[in-house]
Amino acid sequence: TEVKKIAVIAGDGIGPEVVAEAIKVMKRTEELFGLKFEFEHGLFGGVAIDEKGTPLPQETLEICKRADAVLLGAVGGPKWDNNSKELRPETGLLGIRKELGLFSNLRPAVVFDCLKDASTLKPEVLEGTDLIVVRELTGGIYFGEKFRREGAYGEEAVDTCVYNVTEVERIVRQAFEVAQKRRKKLASVDKANVLETSRLWRETVNRIAPDYPDVEVEHVLVDNCAMQLLRRPSSFDVIVTENMFGDILSDEAAMLTGSIGMLSSASLGEGSFGLYEPVHGSAPDIAGQGVANPIATILSVALMYRLTFGYGEAADAIERAVKQVLDAGNRTGDIATDRAQALSTTEMGDLIANALEGAAVQA
Ligand code: NAD
Ligand code: IPM
Ligand code: MN
Repeated sequence: TEVKKIAVIAGDGIGPEVVAEAIKVMKRTEELFGLKFEFEHGLFGGVAIDEKGTPLPQETLEICKRADAVLLGAVGGPKWDNNSKELRPETGLLGIRKELGLFSNLRPAVVFDCLKDASTLKPEVLEGTDLIVVRELTGGIYFGEKFRREGAYGEEAVDTCVYNVTEVERIVRQAFEVAQKRRKKLASVDKANVLETSRLWRETVNRIAPDYPDVEVEHVLVDNCAMQLLRRPSSFDVIVTENMFGDILSDEAAMLTGSIGMLSSASLGEGSFGLYEPVHGSAPDIAGQGVANPIATILSVALMYRLTFGYGEAADAIERAVKQVLDAGNRTGDIATDRAQALSTTEMGDLIANALEGAAVQA
């Protein structure tokens, strides 16, 4: 079997806790499916600032560049929140996405039937919800010029939002292709009634839509989309949107599934290389307690297997194992109705790893 190189950058807070469970699952799939991984760990985020004086050390970037895929936990925390931009963990995250050319961020939000009562929304509203947010990841206001200056009324801060047509076209084409493999419905989300970048975005969608005649396109203004996601979540299939709107809407979509601890993600460029991480952050409020939900990270491994390696059977087995474990009533605190019964991070990881064998046989 071909050995695949995995760069592991666990990061801060609950990052290392959830990544450990994902690796546990990967090791079990090595035995069950004859896969072989080589893990190389790199310092990243706050821990890298503390130890190396920068959130994204050159060595970590090299580890990622020579890997076939990256598994990332999360970065950030109160310790570094007042640092200057260069010494912020989040700057490292933006840097790694940009350096690796990962312009496309896929964030599936699927409601497991047995978790309908974990959401704050009514079960009948959630019924059948299975959507994916395709978020542009290396452009927009995150990456535009930023500066401070002295204005007539005191200090001013400026963030610029820039998109060129090439950036818009490549992400929109990816979203059309994702839609073609799903229910063939694309909601393009923008603020074209106000923003020039959004008008370019909408024009681009309309210009290339004829190349995908089987996909039904709907334009939705972002404020309305935020509302419709709670009103009629099951009517969405693929949502494509710019960087910041996608960040916000995907956390909102997470709550449809019951918890942000359930939302996985894949960050891709043009090739098969990808970076896989949960949508959630380092959760400083629960870090170190061993109670974080590892499912978002474990489901990110399933995305890695399918999208980077073409290990479809192993990916299916991971998803089935997660479903079985949840169906049997196992819960971490974030999705539990009875907190007293909640499992720890490692208990949940063990259950999923142990369910893999049965889930594999079922295939
Ligand atoms: P967060 O996602 O870390 O946490 C939001 C809430 O969700 C918290 O109450 C947290 O306890 C809970 N939560 C998150 N993940 C969970 C899990 N797996 N299991 C159970 N509960 C979970 O968002 P935040 O609090 O706004 O940000 C905290 C830090 O994380 C900040 O420094 C932020 O910049 C950073 N952040 C990093 C990433 C990333 O690395 N990709 C993503 C988002 C936020
Ligand atoms: C995410 C996070 C990051 C983002 C932050 C930590 C820079 O919220 O991955 O969703 O905004 O992209
Ligand atoms: Mn976010």
